[in-house]
Amino acid sequence: MKYGDFDSLNREYVVKRPDTPGIWANYLGSPEYGAIISSNAGGYSFVKSGAKGRILRYRFNDFDHPGRYLYLRDDNDGDFWSASWLPVKKDQSLANYVTKHGTGYTKIEADYRGIKSEALYYVPHNKTYEVWNLKLTNTSDKEKNLSVFGYAEFTNDSNYEQDQVNLQYTLFITRTYFKNRFIIQTINENCKNAVNGNSGESRFFGLSKQPVNSFNGDKEAFLGLYDGYEGPSAVRKGECDNTLNYNSNACGALSTKITLAPGETKELTFTLGQKEEAEAASIVAKYDDANIVEEEVNEIKKFWHDKLDNLKVDTPSKEFNDMINTWTSYQCFITFTWSRAASLIYCGQRNGFGYRDTVQDIQGVIHLDPKEAKNRIEFMLSAQVNHGGALPLVKYSHNPGHEDSPEDDSYVKETGHPSYRADDTLWLFPTIYKYISETKDLAFLDKVIPYSNSGEATVYEHLLKAIDFTLNNLGLLDLPAGLHADWNDCLRLGKKGVSVFVALQLYYAYTILSKFAEIKKDDKNVKYIASLQDKLRKTIEDECFEGDRFIRGITENGEKVGSKENKEASLWLNPQSWAVISGFADKKTSEKILDLVYSDLNTPFGAKVMTPSFKDYPFDGALALLFNPGTKENGGIFLQTQGWIILAEALLGRGNKAFQYYKESSPAYQNDIADKRHLEPYVYGQFTESNDSPFEGRSHVHWLTGTATTCMVGMTEGILGLRPNLKGICIEPAIPSEWKEFTMVKQYLGKTLNIKVLNPNGKEGGFTSLTVNGESLPSSFIDDKLLKSENEIILTL
Ligand code: GLC
Repeated sequence: MKYGDFDSLNREYVVKRPDTPGIWANYLGSPEYGAIISSNAGGYSFVKSGAKGRILRYRFNDFDHPGRYLYLRDDNDGDFWSASWLPVKKDQSLANYVTKHGTGYTKIEADYRGIKSEALYYVPHNKTYEVWNLKLTNTSDKEKNLSVFGYAEFTNDSNYEQDQVNLQYTLFITRTYFKNRFIIQTINENCKNAVNGNSGESRFFGLSKQPVNSFNGDKEAFLGLYDGYEGPSAVRKGECDNTLNYNSNACGALSTKITLAPGETKELTFTLGQKEEAEAASIVAKYDDANIVEEEVNEIKKFWHDKLDNLKVDTPSKEFNDMINTWTSYQCFITFTWSRAASLIYCGQRNGFGYRDTVQDIQGVIHLDPKEAKNRIEFMLSAQVNHGGALPLVKYSHNPGHEDSPEDDSYVKETGHPSYRADDTLWLFPTIYKYISETKDLAFLDKVIPYSNSGEATVYEHLLKAIDFTLNNLGLLDLPAGLHADWNDCLRLGKKGVSVFVALQLYYAYTILSKFAEIKKDDKNVKYIASLQDKLRKTIEDECFEGDRFIRGITENGEKVGSKENKEASLWLNPQSWAVISGFADKKTSEKILDLVYSDLNTPFGAKVMTPSFKDYPFDGALALLFNPGTKENGGIFLQTQGWIILAEALLGRGNKAFQYYKESSPAYQNDIADKRHLEPYVYGQFTESNDSPFEGRSHVHWLTGTATTCMVGMTEGILGLRPNLKGICIEPAIPSEWKEFTMVKQYLGKTLNIKVLNPNGKEGGFTSLTVNGESLPSSFIDDKLLKSENEIILTL
């Protein structure tokens, strides 16, 4: 069953049935002022931190309440409704709610009893407050007299946990005031200087374009003790009773009376933020301007669409196009920007950037915004400790050169992370390689960047240090130790146990580093890396390959993990996909292991992270056991890994398989089974429950997940075959054989590549001919030197 559709032209997802099976959200603003909004107007807002800067209240696990509520009341007979389906929940057949989630804005439309309403929510570009604009049109032939209410439920304390549980304190620290056009809420208002860490904040909720006729600053007074959001007592009565709060729950509620002649349209604009009175007053005054809302929304659209336009594709798959042209790209930016900070699952408690997640997130935006990618790479390099390991969590307050590390109690106390991860800095290799290949910014290798604790080094030296760290942390058989975790947070292999996944990452890192060493004419290291890589190859071949699979690791006791001998978890996805991605496995072996993945791990919703799920035979360190079978790392379809299997199949040239994996896990392709999948059909989640769960196909943990990036890489480098390298770009698509042709427009080095791929013979990949601006080339590689500012490229498979 479906609940909405993609509007490709406007780059919107249009929700047409409001009773969605999950909460379908969108992101507004930035972490400086962040707002999450659902298709039913639920969600919260915060300043800088979802956990510590929360200004709008939202209750997790309380299906989507409260929200940014706009109530309408027909004063002729007292019937009332809300501009969004929640909270009043008028029958959809009478009100026809439609929500349009766009890039940085959400619009909710309704049409009830002759009143057409459009509630438009956004955070103006680079501003730190939000706008709720309500446009009302009388579509009937009678005059309409309406009371309109805006309701914002403030938290009583910026610390959302305190607000929820420490009521003996938080109920007694806040007050509201009415200032003609807005409500001001103060917290700890007499603490001009910090007391106990609090120094007094104030928030506002204002109304522009129409006068305020009545107001409330007290939640219970507005709602009524027993009426609830679905029928607030003020709305029932047609006006607020002007009660302000003192030792109670605060809110901002403003009401105005509007008369609409037949056909007439009027607008009113609510604004909300954390501001002092004077600034609030000027913001409210600003929105009296009739044009500002449209201008600001156009600015937001332009900001996003300009970025997304750096790669445009037109393939026979509308779902693929929608995801790559808008939604997966947008999700990559949201993940890149917001990390794992705040969603309707993450409440903002993580006060920093996870190292591995962030270095991987960068890969999703390199082709769309290389400049921002570079800044973030530098930032992450500055969070590498001078022994080569990485800070598992990079604090938002990160101060390069002066940070404490997991060796220090202070770091552990503040971040909760006691030890290093085996994989963290190895992600730098593919990320930096992709960045340099996309931009040809070879000078970046020589840029000097500080370490997190002390000292500094060039980017190239940082990478050498990352290898040192891995080599200084070898386990059994001289293979990389799994330490506290590798990519898999639920695998604790320790200082002696071995991670084969990390061994393959290391193998790949050697290949990349050796290319950089060649550029730097660092012959000594070219030779050294080659000898290390040979040795590693031999050990992996002898100890980690079982003929049809690579094992996942070795425990501290020397037992194999992911071996055919194991009763549970005998086959793992990552070592197979990474044996291909890393260039470790030859063609024959690659085909064999990927065939096994297909037969034993694949499901209608993607490939499981391993099988069978742990239940009765875990080893010490198999933390996946914490989860129910078929869930997350315990035999779930961990979606981040789908990007890798898509890429691996594509690298082998098996386009049909690559696209099949893409389809199975692609949100857009599951639009019609949204009731089964639950998550937004425009957004990847962290995992899907596999056939070891009674709810196979249900997905979880929306938006902030590495899935967006790995699938983006799987789509662009894998299926579309756009692979820049240090000298030029290869175009080697691996597509479904039924695609007869497709086009792509890629911005690359400030030039435009208009690429047409022809597939007259129904192939899955391969090369027959390539022309660049009429000149025919012998392979799919295009030297940058051949490119002009506009290029016509025709590839025939
Ligand atoms: C979560 C974590 C990520 C980890 C993955 C697998 O997505 O954020 O760091 O790699 O789980 O355990």
